[in-house]
Amino acid sequence: MAPPQICVIGSLNIDFVTYTPRCPDAGETLTASSLAISAGGKGANQAVACGRASFAARDSQEAAVSMIGAVGAGDPYYAALLRPTLEGSGVSTKGIQEKTDSQTGSATIIVDEGAGGENRILFVPGANYTGMDKVDAVLATTQDIHLDQGVVVMQGEIPRATTLGLMKHFNDPACRSHLIFNPAPVFTEGIPLPALAGTSVLAMNETEAVLMTQSVAEYLRPDQATAELKPEELAPLFHQHAKVHIVLITLGAKGAYFSTATGKQGFAPSAAVEKVVDTTAAGDTFVGYFATAFAKFVATGAALEEFDAQIETAVRRANVAAAGCVQRKGAMQSIPFAYEI
Ligand code: RIB
Repeated sequence: MAPPQICVIGSLNIDFVTYTPRCPDAGETLTASSLAISAGGKGANQAVACGRASFAARDSQEAAVSMIGAVGAGDPYYAALLRPTLEGSGVSTKGIQEKTDSQTGSATIIVDEGAGGENRILFVPGANYTGMDKVDAVLATTQDIHLDQGVVVMQGEIPRATTLGLMKHFNDPACRSHLIFNPAPVFTEGIPLPALAGTSVLAMNETEAVLMTQSVAEYLRPDQATAELKPEELAPLFHQHAKVHIVLITLGAKGAYFSTATGKQGFAPSAAVEKVVDTTAAGDTFVGYFATAFAKFVATGAALEEFDAQIETAVRRANVAAAGCVQRKGAMQSIPFAYEI
């Protein structure tokens, strides 16, 4: 059996993180606690989570993980922070392009220590947009990766047009790889239903799930369009109308909801956490850990409905990893290895 293959196509950012006892009001200057510069980006964080999830023991990696993305050429932060963290987590960086005309993407993050480590993020795309604007060029980078019976993971920090083009390719029944899509952030114009159709896994938090209902808006009953829909009401909309096989909705401290088109559904509670210090990358950790469990299953060649027997275990494990992440500061650096949890 070929080893599980995971290819993450997405963003790489330098995170400028300010920790503060509270967020300043408009026009107010506040003395904060500390500043950290660290490796991040939803794509790169998820690639690191996949890599670290595949190390059940320190010296053996169970899946091949590759990152496709773009950074600014000669960026010292890429050389000193992003690349070593990715490679040290078992992620191939061969598919990361260095753009001479752009800067590496960045995120300005405010972590509110007074609100349980809750964050606010301002994302500047830089090379994540300029280097990822051509679908054919991105697909050409994936050529050397054996994605037949593999998993592709995507988020919303590369251009929408590229995302739609890649979804068309990976969701085509002729393509044997499985797409895991995490619409974070959700594109303002949304994702049209035909592009979403055939997605193997749609993983969202509660806010993203509500925003994503615009994809299925034409099928909402008037009472559903105005109501606050619960996860168990949202998921069937994506199964029935968007032909999504697995819907995952993370609920923060309440855990996660899972649902499959073949009828398995439930809530997996979150794992115990002593103290939340920084929630950054908790969602990415969840997605990466789930993606790795799913990739291992996909590599067996079994029919998708057989994953129903494994989904709850995969979601519980992803919750445990996310609980590990929120107890450490930073994005990528806070993601646990599988042998630590
Ligand atoms: O999900 C967390 C990530 O979102 C951060 O690392 C930051 O780069 C932003 O993109």
